[in-house]
Amino acid sequence: MEYTWLVFYFLNIWVILSKFEFSKGNNDDNELCFSVIGDMGGIPNPPYSTASQKRVAKLLGKVTGKLKCKFIMGVGDNFYFDGVKNVNDPRFELTYERTYSDPALHVPWYMIAGNHDHLSNISAQIAYTKLSKRWHYPDYFYTESHKIPKSSKTLQIIMIDTMMLCFHNKRSGAPPPQVQLKWIDETLNKSKANYLVVGGHHPMYSAGTHGNTNCLHEKLKPLLEKYNVTVYFSGHDHNLQHIKDDNSSIHYFISGSGNFVDPRLTNKDKLPNNSLRFEHGSYGGFILVRVNNENLEAIITNSKPEKLYRIRIKPRVVEKYHSTVKRNMDIDFETSSIIKKMPDLLMPVENQANNPTEAVAFDNIKQVDSSISTYTTSTNNTKGEEESSLLQWGENSIR
Ligand SMILES: [Fe+2]
Ligand SMILES: [Zn+2]
Repeated sequence: MEYTWLVFYFLNIWVILSKFEFSKGNNDDNELCFSVIGDMGGIPNPPYSTASQKRVAKLLGKVTGKLKCKFIMGVGDNFYFDGVKNVNDPRFELTYERTYSDPALHVPWYMIAGNHDHLSNISAQIAYTKLSKRWHYPDYFYTESHKIPKSSKTLQIIMIDTMMLCFHNKRSGAPPPQVQLKWIDETLNKSKANYLVVGGHHPMYSAGTHGNTNCLHEKLKPLLEKYNVTVYFSGHDHNLQHIKDDNSSIHYFISGSGNFVDPRLTNKDKLPNNSLRFEHGSYGGFILVRVNNENLEAIITNSKPEKLYRIRIKPRVVEKYHSTVKRNMDIDFETSSIIKKMPDLLMPVENQANNPTEAVAFDNIKQVDSSISTYTTSTNNTKGEEESSLLQWGENSIR
């Protein structure tokens, strides 16, 4: 009898411990998480921020805290309408520090300039890096690398200045376009990161009022293709978009509604056929990115708050350069790497195999354009538990 009780007792202990192990193995531990926000620059008059910006900021704080995200990526137009004049400009405090005041948002903010920032002094925004504990803008263009927890994989972020690349102003003192282009080429070429992310202000493609950026098609797109970049994040048009051409492996996202919101799709016809996978311009928002050993998951989120759309993208395959394969005569063979293109970078979502679309649009979605094929789901996805916890963002309406 006593022996039976002993077995029962140890069985209970085992169940408790196994539950503990399970709870330890949640996504907080095995993923790298960050958000991409753009065009967050407030207004130049009191109160120096907009109601929409504050709603986005509040949700960004909540999500960053809940998922223990490691950094924020800011893709330009940091201060409307004319940037900042010097490193002591009050707008740093009034538009940035006060708006993004949630303690969870005291993580590094990787910043880059937009066209509005270039109307003033970019060096002031770079210099603010030394005064701030979180504003991280060490140079006109720069790169940061992160390890994916519990994985041998890495993520590299390359922040570029598309104003300098395409609309260079000689008086600014910033390096000329060729210097940055050479740096981008070398940095991409050297990268062995499994997830290679480029961020800049101007979009490669956009259905919005600004449309495609022709200069980037000419200068940047060949490099993104050549080195098999995973994702290009931009802002500039004040909405949220995911664009992917069937003829390319690169995913283009626009996260430009950190402050102003513009739903117009003036240039939709100029996009490659069926490349606009998703767009949203009814509320401000940002793109949450969760990266683990298997995939990079981008979740388009608005400040209503709703999770609107999710896509999972597989890592690149990177192989060491093989000396018998000549790729480019003027490349240093020792440090080069060959990147094999994946036949399909999109990871199908389980339980949705019969659906022709590759991505998931969440419920509560307001589909502005019915020609974009999306479908709704709240429970039948591969991460049921995770999704239901994320949906709780909406519990306390953020207004
Ligand atoms: Fe903007
Ligand atoms: Zn802009």
